[in-house]
Amino acid sequence: MAIFGAVATQNPKGTRDFLPKDERVQQYIFSKWRETCLAFGYEPYEGPTFEHLELYTEKSGEEIVDQLYAFQDKSGRAIALRPEMTPTLARIVAAQGHSLPKPVKWFSMPRLFRYERAQKGRLREFFQLNMDILGSESLDAEVDLLLAICALMRNFGFKPTDFRVGISNRRLLNALLEQLGVENRDAVYAALDRRAKIGEEAFGELLAEAGMAPEARKALNDAMGCATLDELAPHCTSEAAKAALEELRYLLDRMASLGHGESVGLDLNIVRGLAYYTGPVFEVFDAAKSMRAIAGGGRYDDLCAKLGGERTTGVGFGMGDVVLKDLLEERGLLPDVSRDRLDYWLVSFGNDVEPLFRMAETLRARGRRVGHPLELRKFAKQMQEADRSGAAKVLMLGSDRVPEGCVEVKDLVAGTQSAVPVDRL
Ligand code: HAM
Repeated sequence: MAIFGAVATQNPKGTRDFLPKDERVQQYIFSKWRETCLAFGYEPYEGPTFEHLELYTEKSGEEIVDQLYAFQDKSGRAIALRPEMTPTLARIVAAQGHSLPKPVKWFSMPRLFRYERAQKGRLREFFQLNMDILGSESLDAEVDLLLAICALMRNFGFKPTDFRVGISNRRLLNALLEQLGVENRDAVYAALDRRAKIGEEAFGELLAEAGMAPEARKALNDAMGCATLDELAPHCTSEAAKAALEELRYLLDRMASLGHGESVGLDLNIVRGLAYYTGPVFEVFDAAKSMRAIAGGGRYDDLCAKLGGERTTGVGFGMGDVVLKDLLEERGLLPDVSRDRLDYWLVSFGNDVEPLFRMAETLRARGRRVGHPLELRKFAKQMQEADRSGAAKVLMLGSDRVPEGCVEVKDLVAGTQSAVPVDRL
């Protein structure tokens, strides 16, 4: 009798099992992530999968704290599984202090944990590419990261019009709320975050609940409805708002002049749930916004200092594997990786496996990836197994149809068969 009953074979809600066929797809995603990061000169780093609970309760903002997997360890320490990488990264950089030459451009592909409500595109355990630059005040750090996002999407096979990188600025939102004398900023941010989803009327109601007067509500809604910076400019009366507007102009102009105007644009509805952002923020969606965000990030200039380090500016983004994979599947952009596993699969007309081990060893010594049966069955069965093996080519040992020193090779992709000298394999 099974000890746990039906639960024994079922994975926890919001988690995934990766069978080799799924893991091959996963490895394809990781390899594109890594390749792109290395092409941009980012260096890999890692951290622990669990951290002190306070690292998140103090710095990440309410939404993430509600979703923490937290527990007490055997010594009574409050611990949480990491829901995001940014606090860990800031902690590592803060701990290094002056000894670390700045700026650093680092990337990581952590496994993260969030107790999310089950919904499409959101899981409780997922992977997230993180690319971050710490120690650069320049808006060109944002440019570097936005270019990397465009390169990632291109390398996965998306066209520039298939996705949209929307940019806003926390500093601009702050300045607008300051201009309007808004006191209850958190409630207004929460309303702004939902504005695109709930429509103008419900948005107005939330602002009223947050204590905003009718004129201020109208002014904020009008500003948020602007589609271009020129439309927005008259709404920016304070020096702070004007300066923040210019930051956005710089980023949009730069991305357009670098040839990415089709993919990158202003989107004032982007607020970002995380509490630590201090400047430009951005999110990536499929062009029709039919799915949840593919990636999101922004500038966080105070996080290292808040962790007790010296002031080190930061900017970066996270791109999850879940929405990305859904989108790649939907668009037919996942390559057939089923034949990438092995160079050769060996089969035999004889009845002894030793020649197979011997041939496999010879080929592996030449850097080839080789598999073969461990028990010899009928030839037709061996060929079925060869087809399932994921090898591109089958070597048939012991065939009397080929000259001495040769082996019969069947190419499973091209469907051809030929005799090849062993030393040419
Ligand atoms: P985030 O917006 O919370 O930002 O997550 C970024 C991306 O991670 C999302 O756009 C989505 O693709 C993916 N993601 C988030 N939650 C889930 C989930 N439950 N299931 C599947 N995918 C998910 C951050 O995490 C920031 N720390 C990013 C950052 C890096 N900011 C600066 N540097």
